[in-house]
Amino acid sequence: MIKNLLVTGGCGFIGSAFIRKILRDTDINIVNLDSLTYAGNPENLIEIEGNHRYHFVKGSIQNPELVENICDYYKIDGIINFAAESHVDRSILDARPFIDTNVGGTLILLQTAMKHKIRRYLQVSTDEVYGSLGESGLFTESSPIQPNSPYSASKAAADHLVSAFVHTYGLNAVITRCSNNYGPFQFPEKLIPLMVLNACEDKKLPIYGDGMNVRDWIYVDDHCSGIWATFLKGKSGEVYNLGGKSEKPNIEIVKTLLKILNKPESLITYVKDRPGHDRRYAIDCSKAESELAWKPAFNFDEGLVSTVNWYLNNPKWCGNVRSGEYMEYYEKQYKI
Ligand SMILES: NC(=O)c1ccc[n+]([C@@H]2O[C@H](COP(=O)([O-])OP(=O)(O)OC[C@H]3O[C@@H](n4cnc5c(N)ncnc54)[C@H](O)[C@@H]3O)[C@@H](O)[C@H]2O)c1
Repeated sequence: MIKNLLVTGGCGFIGSAFIRKILRDTDINIVNLDSLTYAGNPENLIEIEGNHRYHFVKGSIQNPELVENICDYYKIDGIINFAAESHVDRSILDARPFIDTNVGGTLILLQTAMKHKIRRYLQVSTDEVYGSLGESGLFTESSPIQPNSPYSASKAAADHLVSAFVHTYGLNAVITRCSNNYGPFQFPEKLIPLMVLNACEDKKLPIYGDGMNVRDWIYVDDHCSGIWATFLKGKSGEVYNLGGKSEKPNIEIVKTLLKILNKPESLITYVKDRPGHDRRYAIDCSKAESELAWKPAFNFDEGLVSTVNWYLNNPKWCGNVRSGEYMEYYEKQYKI
């Protein structure tokens, strides 16, 4: 059994949900290594402040001495890597930080895991490494890796490194590939929080292209329970797809949000499509269901309403994350 877990990128959207869950459900100690980029927000973990089983270290997974010192000092025996540059649009503006963190940082973690005889490593990856689907079909774990954006290419490269460390050095490691997450604490550059916060202020809602790009949506807590099940039960060297079984075109999500918020559809504004925009993602997660006894528990409509309510009830968090850098990025990106 793992006693001291290193979680990287734990101040982001999914990592913070995962840390809250593990502290609640287990007696494992957690060290969170996060460099606090624009997406990293210590406020996401305010409810666990003072918990004696939680330690925060500000720093980068690209720093080998720091990662080694953490593994030594805290006697780390497991690593789960959430740390990443995670936004496709930003990767199109500048791919460099994506390669540095997502590929270079993962390599440092893997090398340190070998050196320190870490007992278990999990790489949090994405369905985007499979590229785009046509009208039908689902991604399985044996679908070809065909990433289309600098973000997904960097995640695919990291996945290949993890597999190489399993096969070449015998590292005990697993990979999860999950679909689009939604839920509380998501940075408002991503579709759902962006639309909720803009609609609340009667601002335009920018929709790429024709709005018919399809994603498979999963509530963030379902993703976290899938990661934990994979960490505990997954077979080393294997990939496990995690999905929410809720395929929706972007425009349908936005119209549903407007209904929940009682706002007019006239706020919707179609903008120039994202270059190379993948048309459809959909996940077959039957392997995780049968081998890990995991399945998504949240109903999409209920999860969406409770997510909207969370944003409405947390105006301070929303105001803080939308200041400074974010507004500059937003205006440059959408020009509306
Ligand atoms: N959001 C999704 O829908 C989704 C779906 C599937 C997989 N994923 C993957 O899950 C992981 C977490 O995604 P998220 O949405 O929480 O991302 P996020 O952008 O909200 O958080 C990323 C976190 O990583 C930290 N970070 C970035 N570079 C770092 C570095 N060099 N060293 C240490 N910390 C660093 C940031 O400060 C931030 O706290 C990512 O690996 C992402 O690829 C996300």
